[in-house]
Amino acid sequence: MLVKGTHYRTVWMDNGSVRMIEQNRLPFSFEVHACNSVEDTCQAIRDMTVRGAGAIGATAGFAMAQHFLDPKQKTEDALEMIKRTRPTAQNLFYAVERVYNQAANSRKPSSAALEEAQAIANEDAEACRMIGENAARLLAGHPRMMTHCNAGWLAFVDWGSALSPVYAARRNGITPFVYVSETSPRGQGARLTAWELGQEGIEHAVIPDNASGFFMKNGDVDIAITGADRIAANGDTANKIGTYMKAVIAKEIGIPFYIAAPTSTIDFRCPDGRGIPIEFRNQDEVLWKSGVTEDGKIERILTSSPGSLAKNPAFDVTPARYITGIITEKGIVKPSELWELKR
Ligand code: MRU
Repeated sequence: MLVKGTHYRTVWMDNGSVRMIEQNRLPFSFEVHACNSVEDTCQAIRDMTVRGAGAIGATAGFAMAQHFLDPKQKTEDALEMIKRTRPTAQNLFYAVERVYNQAANSRKPSSAALEEAQAIANEDAEACRMIGENAARLLAGHPRMMTHCNAGWLAFVDWGSALSPVYAARRNGITPFVYVSETSPRGQGARLTAWELGQEGIEHAVIPDNASGFFMKNGDVDIAITGADRIAANGDTANKIGTYMKAVIAKEIGIPFYIAAPTSTIDFRCPDGRGIPIEFRNQDEVLWKSGVTEDGKIERILTSSPGSLAKNPAFDVTPARYITGIITEKGIVKPSELWELKR
């Protein structure tokens, strides 16, 4: 997608180095971060320099390829190190296992790993493009859509999941309006989705997370679409913390609530949402906030009562009964029909 007129992917590999858009500094500063070792790449996933299910999946695949290009430890140790970076997004495990299996069964492991990692990144971009094509019909006229977190192109290799239908609709001459819930505590909505939509010229407004019910009840929202970090076989879906309450309110009011995700996010080995591991992150993400001062300096300030502890679950699970449909590159299915996509 375009940043100030230049086409970027969120993550890519260049001569053994994994390059990514530095998401912790957006929207205040646009920088490209380079990871020259598997350790660097793992650190970038952990500290969320790169984030979002598809983007960390592609990054994990590239990290596995980095290992095969220049092995500095046992392959099983590198595999485990990459898998331990973040626990919830299924795409990470999907990608790292695919690259590992391809390379381990090849006579030229380094080129096999590189090719497979590149294929995963390309497939992610194409799946997201198709998600947009498949779901554009859900947005007609001047649709008012609500989303949560960032499931746009920054969260994938390109296009995004929940925002891809917005971009596809706009290409079809439709003018969507997007309610962007800010996404406490890290602000992926306010910082990343709002920035992305601004770059694309899409009309939008940032709203506090706890104003979602207000706007839905007021009749201001036609449809809600969010992304997913892992979808269990029965359609229960883990996504950024705060998704569950939006889905419950949407059902109460009768607003269609869709999940958009490539099929690489579906974990058919996990029967229902109880099996999805939920990441708890550092309490400082709740207690402290960072932003930019009027004179352009990025600063971090304490915004909670000094000495208070915080709890910080990064994801919640929305039960399948609250989900109208799951939008994938293969089409839109009801949660109960998910198994059809396994074929
Ligand atoms: O913790 P993050 O920012 O990596 O969160 C993951 C997500 O991007 C969201 O939950 C998103 O809606 C899923 S789709 C990439």
